Amino acid sequence: MIYFDNAATSWPKPAAVTEAMAHFMTEVGANPGRSAHRRSIEAGRIIYETRDALARLFNVDDPLRIVFGSNATEALNLALRGMLRPGDHVVTSSMEHNSVMRPLRAMEEEGVVEIAVVPCSSEGFLDSADLEAAIRPDTRMIALNHASNVVGSFLPVAEAGAIARNHDLLLLVDAAQTAGAHPLDMKGMQIDLLAFTGHKALFGPQGTGGLCIGERVGVGDIQPLKQGGTGSRSEREQQPRFLPDMCESGTPNTVGLAGLGAGVRFVLERGVEEIRVHEVELTKRLIAGLLEIPGVVVYGGHDAEMQTAAVSFNVERVAPSEVAPMLDERYGIMSRVGLHCSPAAHRTIGTFPVGTVRFGLSLFNTVEEVDVALTAVREIATVECGGDWRSDPK
Ligand SMILES: Cc1ncc(COP(=O)(O)O)c(C=O)c1O
Repeated sequence: MIYFDNAATSWPKPAAVTEAMAHFMTEVGANPGRSAHRRSIEAGRIIYETRDALARLFNVDDPLRIVFGSNATEALNLALRGMLRPGDHVVTSSMEHNSVMRPLRAMEEEGVVEIAVVPCSSEGFLDSADLEAAIRPDTRMIALNHASNVVGSFLPVAEAGAIARNHDLLLLVDAAQTAGAHPLDMKGMQIDLLAFTGHKALFGPQGTGGLCIGERVGVGDIQPLKQGGTGSRSEREQQPRFLPDMCESGTPNTVGLAGLGAGVRFVLERGVEEIRVHEVELTKRLIAGLLEIPGVVVYGGHDAEMQTAAVSFNVERVAPSEVAPMLDERYGIMSRVGLHCSPAAHRTIGTFPVGTVRFGLSLFNTVEEVDVALTAVREIATVECGGDWRSDPK
């Protein structure tokens, strides 16, 4: 069994993640911040430690400016719905995931915002000059994917940070694909709002994620997505106006956050740079091997240094929706097929509406697994296409 669907969600998780979750369930189990007893205090401490580990990973000064939610989608909705006001213009890219596109399109239809989608190259790259050219006097925010979930291409987030500062705009970064797998420095990259998900390269469980809110964002500028009990200022019927409570109503996913904390500490101990070196090595080998197979088209820039460990490809004449089950049923290789919730990205790279097969690698994958997958793709391409069909006129 080879798990190559890490760009969707990572598996396996480090043992410490499962242990931290089991510890919470069996030894702690209480509601954080709601009661004064020892287990409630312990639950609160576990959550604070997760915030603290994330603050170290992303270079955030104040861990209390990290707001937890159920995933990157919720964090992105909080950043967009919570920050944008009627009349705002937003600049984004054609490589965005629907978790950015759909809230923006919905707000556009509601007449709240106008958006400019800056086209990227067919390899999935964005020219920061095009980004800057799309800025208007009423632009308030740049919303950018750090790396495409379709072809892995890095978008120029640090350049966008400098552009945003020059034009006095906010920069929102969707780090769903990079958090834990690529260095992320909120201050160094001048990111104002950083949305992350817990269940991919941070090795946490599903149902965890959050938004890091930079110092340039005033607490009064954010409108929470929901109001309710926070365990703080309970004498008041109005929502508290301080972070993170303001944006974290209701009992949190403490067991999930216990696991996420262990995942982030694992990443900190291993070192993002070391994780990245391993993933680049595997990605290089995968791209080079796929490019050698007749009948296989590999998307993106074909340069492992310029992308994450997500690699999209197709076997010509065979629909990706057929290739993925063949990989699973014949070889035990798990991939992700289709549009990957990113129709704009597939339009950009020319694979809409059928999509691609995507291999998403992680720290836990090996060179041997890459080689087995390459043999499998070669066999599928040969058998299903009747040999080296590129020299076959039919
Ligand atoms: C680039 C990108 N943004 C956002 C998301 C949404 O993440 P989640 O499903 O954890 O909300 C994903 C998930 O695949 C993604 O790849």
